[in-house]
Amino acid sequence: MLALDVSNINKRFEEKNEQPIIANDHITVSVEEGEIYGLLGPNGAGKSTLINIISGVMLPDSGSINIFGTDIVTHTVQAKKTMGVVPQEVVTELAFTVEEILHYMGGMYGVPRDQRSQRITEVLRDLELEDKRHERARKLSGGMKRRLMIAKAIMHKPRFLILDEPTSGVDVALRQKIWDLVRRMNKEGTTILFTTHYIEEAEQLCKEVVLIDHGRVIRKGKVSDLQREFSENIIAFELYDPDVEHLPGIHKQGVEFHLSITHLDQDMTAIIRHYGRNLKSVKSAAASLEQVFLKLTSHEQATEKHKSITV
Ligand SMILES: Nc1ncnc2c1ncn2[C@@H]1O[C@H](COP(=O)(O)OP(=O)(O)O)[C@@H](O)[C@H]1O
Ligand SMILES: [Mg+2]
Repeated sequence: MLALDVSNINKRFEEKNEQPIIANDHITVSVEEGEIYGLLGPNGAGKSTLINIISGVMLPDSGSINIFGTDIVTHTVQAKKTMGVVPQEVVTELAFTVEEILHYMGGMYGVPRDQRSQRITEVLRDLELEDKRHERARKLSGGMKRRLMIAKAIMHKPRFLILDEPTSGVDVALRQKIWDLVRRMNKEGTTILFTTHYIEEAEQLCKEVVLIDHGRVIRKGKVSDLQREFSENIIAFELYDPDVEHLPGIHKQGVEFHLSITHLDQDMTAIIRHYGRNLKSVKSAAASLEQVFLKLTSHEQATEKHKSITV
């Protein structure tokens, strides 16, 4: 079953006397139940706009969104019940205690009153905030406020958890904790969608990603397929003694030597024959997701520039 089905979403922001900003441009993407799915893109790509539309807090200009088959625009309340959303900005009621805030959120999302206290205990344990239960939100550190935002989103054990840049600006230890929580919840059956501009994060957490830039989908698919497709197709090797006569087509790259592959087996055999015992290491190099991303987005920027000249 599809947890999320986004079809042809358009959203533009128009301000007086300014060029309209096309934040989402015909975005179509779907997420299968049970996945951890990454929505990647540089700042300003349109990720938060899409998340706001998916979570029912902003209306699209056109297009449709279904959450487990329920339309978010026509059946907002029903669709929202299956979702937990952690927005990019920390927004919380600073004058209340952590317990009061979670109690209220539980109520909003239909957690029965007699179960709320137990659920708060579980959620605070998951987010290592047990000792902050009676603290007012304003007294929490930035990292704790972030964790409180996640706690609020998971009070009702949503089937589908959406996190908008959950680890942007957090320290390494908290990032790791958030990753662990995401993996654990996913193992227990929660579908996850998160946005990030840290490519490494997507590489660590998800099998599938969609890359967006300038509001448009530029590529989607399995991380491993993208890496393969954009692999550099080179053999990289190191030598004990680099000052020897080289095969044609070899380029020095730092401490390594590179050869563009024309036929992997033959090229590999030629290298081994020619360098013999002088070979310290040899491998075929694949592109990292970061390289894929940079290639795709710089291409996109190039076409964008081209467009603005012709328009
Ligand atoms: N409420 C708004 N009013 C006007 N412009 C907006 C608004 N929200 C976002 N934008 C613009 O839309 C584009 C996409 O923004 P956003 O969705 O926040 O990107 P991302 O989350 O990928 O960084 C940006 O150019 C941003 O300035
Ligand atoms: Mg954003």
